[in-house]
Amino acid sequence: MKKRVLSGIRATGRLHLGNYLGAIKGMLELQNNPEYETLYMVADLHTITAPFNKEELRKNRQEVIIDYLAAGLDPKKSIIFRQSDVPEHTELAFYFSSIITVARMLHLPTYKDKIKQYPHNVTMALLNYPVLMAADILVYKAGLVPVGIDQEPHLEIAREVARKINQLYGTDFPEPVRFATKGEYIPSLKGEGKMSKSVEGSYILLTDDLETIKNKVSKIPTDSGMKAINPGKEPTHLEGPMFGIMPFVKLFMGEKKADYYKQQYISLGIRYVGLKAELTDAIYKELKPFQEKRKEIEKNQIYVNQVIKEGAQKARIIASQTIKEVKEKMGLL
Ligand code: TRP
Repeated sequence: MKKRVLSGIRATGRLHLGNYLGAIKGMLELQNNPEYETLYMVADLHTITAPFNKEELRKNRQEVIIDYLAAGLDPKKSIIFRQSDVPEHTELAFYFSSIITVARMLHLPTYKDKIKQYPHNVTMALLNYPVLMAADILVYKAGLVPVGIDQEPHLEIAREVARKINQLYGTDFPEPVRFATKGEYIPSLKGEGKMSKSVEGSYILLTDDLETIKNKVSKIPTDSGMKAINPGKEPTHLEGPMFGIMPFVKLFMGEKKADYYKQQYISLGIRYVGLKAELTDAIYKELKPFQEKRKEIEKNQIYVNQVIKEGAQKARIIASQTIKEVKEKMGLL
């Protein structure tokens, strides 16, 4: 039997480079490997665990599907769907919530961060976020999850839930592990923390045009070069401003170029104007095919809706089987 893979992205806005390199690249790799059966959803229910606007939600969950298709997710190879179209996720989440304690949930760093961000929205849905995520994965008995490294605490919960329910009721859930990609940690353009949709000025959207990318790259903080600070010496602190741009140089221009610029930085001092122009072009080149494909797909909403409808049908066939098993084992059938 093929190994199953599940992943999802919340419907909170347009996708950025962090989503692309941290999650979507991994999703593509697994989709194109015949050893795996892949399911990719838009996590629209997770979106409502924080304050949201219903019109934006309606729009964004469609946009994420279009982004998926433009990035190369293929409905012939993957099941592409919306979380809320498969009610088995929420049903399983409720069964799971009966085996994990409130105390365990209160300790999660992601929960603590969110209640700081939205102190007036500490809801049951927010507390239950990781339990729903465990259900997303386990309702398909998926063992592999391509997501960014920040999701590791949530995967830990999924493994705990799987272990516990297997012990208590004799189910056969796998303990899911993360599938990591090379670009799993994409830093913020501001030189501090990670690229994030919720931090203005930290991200480049997959749909940004050349001018916008140029503008954003020009704002990545830099200094006047090693030579000026410390002539002829190797840099001693790698967290210097030059290195804020370094991860992007490595990812989009390659290790060789990165070394070349690092040498220049050490020996001659550097002209960031040239480097930034080259980086801008490299990023745009990576995004251009995606943007062109996206424009085509956007025009064909009938096709997009067809993908969503068929995705939900296929997903439900698998999910309802799991629900039946769990209900039987728990004495509910
Ligand atoms: N929590 C994930 C994120 O913020 C989104 C998500 C929801 C997810 N359910 C999932 C990811 C299941 C992987 C598997 O990125």
